[in-house]
Amino acid sequence: MRERVESAFTERFGQRPGVMTRAPGRLEILGNHTDYNEGTVLSVAVDRAMHVAAGLAPGRICTLVDLGTGSERTFDADDLAHPKKGDWANYIKGLIVEMRRRGMAVPAFRAVLLGTVPMSAGMSSSAALEMAMVLALSRLAGVELPWLEAARIGQACENNYVGARTGLLDQFSSLKGRAGSLVYSDFRSLLVENVAIPDGTAFVVVNSMVKHNLANEYNERRQACEEAVRVLQRVYPGVKALRDVSPAQLAAAEKELAPVVYRRASHVVGEISRVAQGIAALAGGDVARFGQLMFASHDSSRENFANSCVELDLLVEIARRLPAAYGARLSGGGFGGISVHLVRAEQATAYAQEVAGRYRDQSGRTAEAMICTAAAGAGLL
Ligand code: GLA
Repeated sequence: MRERVESAFTERFGQRPGVMTRAPGRLEILGNHTDYNEGTVLSVAVDRAMHVAAGLAPGRICTLVDLGTGSERTFDADDLAHPKKGDWANYIKGLIVEMRRRGMAVPAFRAVLLGTVPMSAGMSSSAALEMAMVLALSRLAGVELPWLEAARIGQACENNYVGARTGLLDQFSSLKGRAGSLVYSDFRSLLVENVAIPDGTAFVVVNSMVKHNLANEYNERRQACEEAVRVLQRVYPGVKALRDVSPAQLAAAEKELAPVVYRRASHVVGEISRVAQGIAALAGGDVARFGQLMFASHDSSRENFANSCVELDLLVEIARRLPAAYGARLSGGGFGGISVHLVRAEQATAYAQEVAGRYRDQSGRTAEAMICTAAAGAGLL
């Protein structure tokens, strides 16, 4: 990958790149829609990533070349005020806007990109693009960017330029991954730790191939969580976010909340509790228990948060019937995209084939199944 972006850059622009970076996609393992509720998440950075070779450009025109799709973009470095709806270049233009807002002098540049994270699938291809580019652009701007600032710039790009009110999970995971480890993030303290992946297990990712379109439904879910906080604050002064509400407190306040808002809040509060239980299960070497928590997480997505779909439900049902699976659930925003399955490592290949086959028989759709391993976080190449 490194050689491919490097030689493509040199061929195209007649000089060597000034900087090369790599940033991985991620899987959300436990803790769904908890990040913007100041909760906790277990995730993993995967061995699929965005690779970037970049250098300074003469004049003010920036050029982006995506080797994977053959698509190219050029834009004026001083004309970034208007995002173009649905354009992938927004993820980069938005970064420049946010970096400049923070006082960084981002120069005109050109870049060659090559990504292996499936797009619009819930594996954070956009965060991989943002983190690879923000590292490259900060280098070209001559700035040492602390990792938290890099994450916040990516999030601000999504929130302000792209229009999705996402949290910090995807950027944290892409930046703080480590081979063999999960990333445990606390979105209140903003502390991150690595937690070992249990021996003898593997993650199988099965893409339902239903494309998810995050922005509208996602923002709506976020509003429901904010509404829940407003009501719960009247019952429990001192509540600042759903992180502050225990499952028992939420249940006791059920009648105060509209039924749909109650279900949305139940999901988030339940997820935060499941992450704590999951950490304890891992610490005690109880992988079976951890898997059960993944199944419970999916049930709650389906019933409470309504961010699953029939295809994802089917994939998780298939997993429940296969002894090789410890657990399975949707991963990321939801509404389509991937499911993640924690399985016995020695059976992972056969399992991936079996799930894809059963899914095809029962849904008529062709799923893409892959084994993902935990990889290092974003950095210079
Ligand atoms: C998307 C968002 C994240 C997070 C997840 C759900 O991936 O980008 O911030 O909210 O959905 O957990």
